[in-house]
Amino acid sequence: MTNRTISHIIEPQLVIEGAGVLLRRSISPRASNEYDPFLLFDHFAFNNPLEGPIRGFPTHPHRGIETVTYMLEGSVNHRDSLGNAGKIGAGDVQWMTSGRGILHEEMPRRSENGNIYGFQLWVNLPAAQKMSQPRYQEVAANAIPVVEKDGVTIRLVAGEFDGVRGPVTEIAASPLYMDVKLAPGSSFIYPVPSGHTTLAYVFEGTGEFGEQIVESVSMVVFNDDGDQIEVKSESGVQFMLISGAPFKEPIVPYGPFVMNTVEEIQQAIQDLRNGTFVK
Ligand code: CO
Repeated sequence: MTNRTISHIIEPQLVIEGAGVLLRRSISPRASNEYDPFLLFDHFAFNNPLEGPIRGFPTHPHRGIETVTYMLEGSVNHRDSLGNAGKIGAGDVQWMTSGRGILHEEMPRRSENGNIYGFQLWVNLPAAQKMSQPRYQEVAANAIPVVEKDGVTIRLVAGEFDGVRGPVTEIAASPLYMDVKLAPGSSFIYPVPSGHTTLAYVFEGTGEFGEQIVESVSMVVFNDDGDQIEVKSESGVQFMLISGAPFKEPIVPYGPFVMNTVEEIQQAIQDLRNGTFVK
C-alpha cells in the first residue's frame, strides 16, 4: 500500500451567500470540474453573536445535484416545494438529491450557546440522473454509526469503515463522507480506490497529511498516486474525509443548477419562469 501525497491545499475564502450569510467556501462549481464529482464545500461557522441575527437561505431552486448538510452545532430549518419540512439538528445529516428540481429554503439557527457549526457539500449527479425524481435521506444523529479505534473516532455518514456501513446509500458517486477525529498521538490509515477524488477538510487542530503538516482550517486535495491516505497527529486533529468516483462528464454550472449543456441550463431557467420547474 502506498500513501497518497498532497496535490494542493485550499485556504477557504469568506463569502456571503443567501440573505447575508457569511461562510467559508473552499470549492465552488466550475466548468473545469477539477474536483469531480464534488462541486462545492461550504463551512457555516457563525460563532460571534455580534454578527447579529442570521437570516439564511430563502427559497431557491436546485437541479442536477445533491446537497449534503451536516451540522455539528446549531441547526438548519428546512422546507421545500414538495411539502417536506424539518430541522437538521446537531449531529444530523440531510442528503438531498435534487434531481430534476426542488425549491427550498434553509434557515440556520444558533444553538443555546450561540454557535452554528456545520458543512454543506454539493455532489454532482451523472447525466442520466440529473432529471430524476427528487429524494431525501435524512439521518438523525443517533443513527450515524460511531466507530472508535486506537484514539480515532469516526462518525460515518456514507461509505464503510471497519465493517461498519454509513446510513446514506445508493448515491451515484459511491462517495465516502466521514467525520474523523484523532486524539493526540494517534494515526489513521484509510484505503481509497485509485481514481477516486479525495479531499480532507481540516477544521480543528493540526495533523500530518501525506507527509505535510496541515493546520485548520484548510481543504487538503490529494493526488491520485496511492491507494490509501495516512494521517498522524501529535496534538489532535479533526477533519471531514470526502472521496468519490468522478463522472468525467462535461458540466455547465449556473448558480444552484449544474447541468451538462448550456441548453439544459436554459431549460431550467425557462421551467422556473413558466412555473414548470417542480412537477
Ligand atoms: Co439549497
